[in-house]
Amino acid sequence: MRRIIIQYGGTGDLAEKKLYPAYRNLMERGYEFELLALGRRFSTREEFLASLAHGAPPSFLEHLHYLHYDMNGPDAVSQLASAIMALVKGTSEVELIYYLALQPSLYEAAIGEIKAIDATLACHCTLKKKIIVEKPFGFDTESALRYNTILEQAFTDQEIYRVDHYLGKEFMQNLLLMRFHNDIIRRIWDNQTIESIQIIFDEEHGVDQRLGFYEQIGVVRDTIQNHILQIITFLTMAEPASISFEDIVIEKQKVLRSISPIEEFHMGRYESLGANSGRVITTPTYAAFKLFVNTYYFAGIPIYVRTGKMQKKAKSLIYIKFKNTTREVMHDESIAENGVIITIHPELTIDISMNLKVPNTSWKSKPVLFRFNQSETFGVNTPEAYEQIVEKILLSDKSLFPTMEEITESWRIVAPMLTDDAPVEVYPVRTLPRFTQAMAKENNFTWFA
Ligand code: BG6
Repeated sequence: MRRIIIQYGGTGDLAEKKLYPAYRNLMERGYEFELLALGRRFSTREEFLASLAHGAPPSFLEHLHYLHYDMNGPDAVSQLASAIMALVKGTSEVELIYYLALQPSLYEAAIGEIKAIDATLACHCTLKKKIIVEKPFGFDTESALRYNTILEQAFTDQEIYRVDHYLGKEFMQNLLLMRFHNDIIRRIWDNQTIESIQIIFDEEHGVDQRLGFYEQIGVVRDTIQNHILQIITFLTMAEPASISFEDIVIEKQKVLRSISPIEEFHMGRYESLGANSGRVITTPTYAAFKLFVNTYYFAGIPIYVRTGKMQKKAKSLIYIKFKNTTREVMHDESIAENGVIITIHPELTIDISMNLKVPNTSWKSKPVLFRFNQSETFGVNTPEAYEQIVEKILLSDKSLFPTMEEITESWRIVAPMLTDDAPVEVYPVRTLPRFTQAMAKENNFTWFA
């Protein structure tokens, strides 16, 4: 069977930084496919290839084709159809994988076009197809449902892959195993024992080359509606009947349905956003908020999140703070609480903090960390998230993709944060917006980092 990945947004940031390296690694691992990159930026394949900074090997480049392509051009459909036909020629079985790495505002047009191409292709072969849609899926609930209706006119749900690359991350999958393969963890993972959860995702970089994309999206659509809510579902879902996609989805959907729309939130924007564009851009690049998962086992545990761009240091971690009853029982205010710290960036570690005796003292304890370090234990060669995601697509395995129900529930949860009238604090680059500390004070907690 000949597989062809048709890469919309083929000259974009995502394709260049994440997808091409993933495709290349998969080819090196023995997967066979052709890649047709579509883009407007370069007029010829030579220019396109010259732009690929990562010096790709000839074995990859010979499968990388390029079409200078304007989706709105009058001949767009016939142009793309003939480029596909040229790759399909002489094959009896073909799989076309349309990968949309585009602004959500272009989805409708792209899908309409793919439908038209579908009707044009006459390859005298067995033709299978898939469509891959990057996050954010839509701008809000209404647009997500609309895009989905259009998608389902041309593809079955089985053929549609909605991407959230966080599901391809090692730490996410580890979260589930840590929770469900360990009796000692399972027994303490609830509102009897946990006091609060913090999720901190601070990024050092700004929106860089992606201003055009980002200014239409903002932090809520870029990372909260998808990555952050997926992390929360993995942290709080009940035990699935098995670690199968179908069983996991049932539990994830329950969590999302139990979260009310986020009402306590703050937004910020870094001072120099779009400074070189000559326009005033007010899109938020940072947010902090609090939510509750209203299930029997998690109700009452506040989950505090802060995430955004242009921070002093890139830092991603989850802090599970346990209740501190010992302090009262032992009448000793100095006894620290226990906690689990899952650090994702700069490297994947899991720490459990426990109080142990300080030598040569009389009954004095101090918190000590028990650490797991992914690269020390297993080596650094875990595949990048996108490699796992693309591999699953090639294998027709939908286990690492959010369902439409998860996506619509997530839009419902973040809906209050999408209104244009929420105040946006302007923060100097490399500093946290002031509201992060105000929120901590108001809620009587301290950010772990
Ligand atoms: C992407 C967002 O989905 O995720 C980016 O568009 C963000 O703005 C990125 O920086 C973070 O992903 P990762 O894999 O670098 O943690």
